[in-house]
Amino acid sequence: MHAVNEPLPDPSAFADVEDVAQRFRDHGYLTDERLATTVFLLARLDKPVLLEGPAGVGKTQLAQSLAAVTGRRLLRLQCYEGQDETKALYEWDYGKQLLYTQILREKIGQIVEDTSTIGEAVERIAAQDSVFFSDRFLAPRPLLEAITSEEPVVLLIDEVDRADEALEAVLLELLSEYQISIPEIGTVRAKHLPYVVLTSNNTRDLSAALKRRCLHLFLDYPTAQRELDILRSKDTGLTEELATRLVEIVRGLRELELRKAPSISETIDWARTLAVLGVSELKADVLASTLNVVIKYERDLERALQTLPNLVDPNAQVPTSLGGHGHGHGHGHGHGGHDHDDADVDGRELRASKDTPGRHDDAYYGAPGKGPAPGAVSPSQGSRSFARGKGARKRPV
Ligand SMILES: Nc1ncnc2c1ncn2[C@@H]1O[C@H](COP(=O)(O)OP(=O)(O)O)[C@@H](O)[C@H]1O
Ligand SMILES: [Mg+2]
Repeated sequence: MHAVNEPLPDPSAFADVEDVAQRFRDHGYLTDERLATTVFLLARLDKPVLLEGPAGVGKTQLAQSLAAVTGRRLLRLQCYEGQDETKALYEWDYGKQLLYTQILREKIGQIVEDTSTIGEAVERIAAQDSVFFSDRFLAPRPLLEAITSEEPVVLLIDEVDRADEALEAVLLELLSEYQISIPEIGTVRAKHLPYVVLTSNNTRDLSAALKRRCLHLFLDYPTAQRELDILRSKDTGLTEELATRLVEIVRGLRELELRKAPSISETIDWARTLAVLGVSELKADVLASTLNVVIKYERDLERALQTLPNLVDPNAQVPTSLGGHGHGHGHGHGHGGHDHDDADVDGRELRASKDTPGRHDDAYYGAPGKGPAPGAVSPSQGSRSFARGKGARKRPV
């Protein structure tokens, strides 16, 4: 456990950036130049990489593919609010300690036999602490497991923005030194340096200290061409022509101020859905009736339904009502209808104007500031009740 890192020649090492791209492609993950370069550097510089961006753009999948490509085991720490370090680093195996003391009852009896006061007996037992707080009773959690593993691994620290800042601090030692301090045992150094991938959905800002230790990459929605390539690689069954149109329509939907914009996985799902239905032409009605595959919030659905005819045919008149939903009540859509002016039929200008650094603030990805529909469940609510932990679990079901 205390071995110093001995750099072994790694047969899975990448030759160059193109080698990264090629091997990921062989495993069904399409990179672009930036992404492939970042992965190459991660492997070469032994630096963790932090991927930030909206949900569903392939952050988690990148780590999974990295494991598959390099033949390394994937260890995953899924972060959530209220998570404490015992779930991330290690725990003392209390059950095992208890079992041992039960079995060793007689032996322990002998140790304290000739003591006369409780204080003395406690001292005697305390002298045995190191037996019970040793490797044997340590239950490693993903972070410790990653550095003590006999084989080099890929460590995925997923959705780190959901964890509290206290846990972020715990990560710092690991990320900069590849070591973990355990007061009762000492400092445990990595046997092999893991490839570390952190992901964040940007629900809050991460500390500068954490960012400093990582290669940073913002993963946004892919270009139309790359999304089409991804779609093609998934064998959705949709023809090339329809897939091209579909990608454009999804990109149009992404420009609406939706609480949850459709991601790559939703484009894939939609393509599969339309292929299964045997659709030969992308018309507003069939798209409208399958829109629930890509849009997951009622309020978003209303907006999307209203815009859909325009996305299918930019010259179409927007009907005041579609599919029985009333849309005549004039709620503000925040984009003033200018995105379908003749001058900007495909929304390119709007896209460009939105494409400024730092446009993803706290409200990004449906955080409360974006004003979810009344009564809607915020994305963090699930994790919060999960994090309530033991108390919550005790409640009768
Ligand atoms: N570059 C890509 N190549 C192939 N598939 C991709 C790519 N990016 C995303 N996907 C698809 O999108 C799905 C969702 O990606 P995921 O990693 O779960 O998103 P995130 O972690 O960013 O929320 C993946 O399972 C995969 O099918
Ligand atoms: Mg993910």
